Amino acid sequence: MQHVLILAGGSGTRLWPLSHQGEPKQLLELIDGMSLLRMAYERVAGLVPDSNIVVCTGAAYADTVARLLPEIPGENILGEPVGRDSLNAVAWPAGIIADRDPDGVMAVVTADHIIRPVDDFRAALQHGFDLATADPGALVTFGVVPTEPNTGFGYLHRGGPLESDPHAHEVLEFVEKPSPEVARQYFDSGEYWWNSGMFVWRASTLLDCLAQLKPETRHQVDQLVADPSRIDEVYPLMEKVSVDIAVMEPASHGGYGVHVAAIPLEIQWYDVGSYEALAPHLLDDDEGNHVKGLAVALDSSGNLLINDRSDAVLAVTGLRNMAVVTTDRATLVVPLSQSQQVKALVAEVAARA
Ligand code: GDD
Ligand code: MG
Repeated sequence: MQHVLILAGGSGTRLWPLSHQGEPKQLLELIDGMSLLRMAYERVAGLVPDSNIVVCTGAAYADTVARLLPEIPGENILGEPVGRDSLNAVAWPAGIIADRDPDGVMAVVTADHIIRPVDDFRAALQHGFDLATADPGALVTFGVVPTEPNTGFGYLHRGGPLESDPHAHEVLEFVEKPSPEVARQYFDSGEYWWNSGMFVWRASTLLDCLAQLKPETRHQVDQLVADPSRIDEVYPLMEKVSVDIAVMEPASHGGYGVHVAAIPLEIQWYDVGSYEALAPHLLDDDEGNHVKGLAVALDSSGNLLINDRSDAVLAVTGLRNMAVVTTDRATLVVPLSQSQQVKALVAEVAARA
């Protein structure tokens, strides 16, 4: 059977103060009152039954996830006592899925991105399911054509088309977040795709890989599946590492009974992980400000104005290309072009609190 794991973790500090205290940005109802998590669910709904959709998130947010996704059975909302990066957010659910369905094929999808058009995405995901079902040794990735030598992505070195599936490619090497020089070289060569961060594989195949690459993690997953009540004891001990570094990079070098394949993802794909990236997705006023909530702007343009309060108005004048975000707990003002700095600012605020 087909299963989907939606990842909803991460600290979300770049969208402070809208998100706070480790709350993942995927849960914020940012765009047209809809959360990125809800959008991620609607992208996959119907491809698999709701009972085969699992969400992995922080334990503190399990109730919010249940409210945003009432269709999903409560036992499929997996709450981590602490974030231990994406390897564990993938491996623990893989253990649960394989326990329920030994031949189960799982797609790992993220909720950090706005993806259009949805139909093309669904077709690519179904292609991934078909490939991993036909080939139990395949770790399927989805490749995006790079538009710049960005160092924030994993890179897939594209080999030839698969014999069994000419619309998918062998991956010669998976390189997670290369240095600027290497990213430039990859970009210029035209031989690389960005890794979209989504995967499809048999749950049992991932677990077999883990047994070889991270035996301790595999052992801990087995412990959690055998006795879920040990989560608070076992989970914090798990090694904090990403699935890209722990599994995908070494697996791409061969020798673990698996191979990495990539399906092209020819879609628009936006990471909304900063205010600058979020701005184009909000409603525009007549002056070209991106506005959410009650805000009044005079002689101001190109600003992101977010008022999360119902008891106050946000008013600006003479302002260009700034983000102004106000909530019950804080007000942030930053040039949109420097919105990556918010992460450092949050650390500074915490240090002084
Ligand atoms: N539940 C849970 N718990 N989810 C997590 C955790 C965690 O501790 N850590 C990360 N995730 C989820 C994030 O929510 C996100 O959906 C996904 O795992 C990837 O984590 P990121 O931290 O966003 O990784 P990244 O953006 O730096 O890199 C990944 O994504 C890129 C594409 O956006 C890699 O897969 C790159 O290779 C890829 O290019
Ligand atoms: Mg990310």
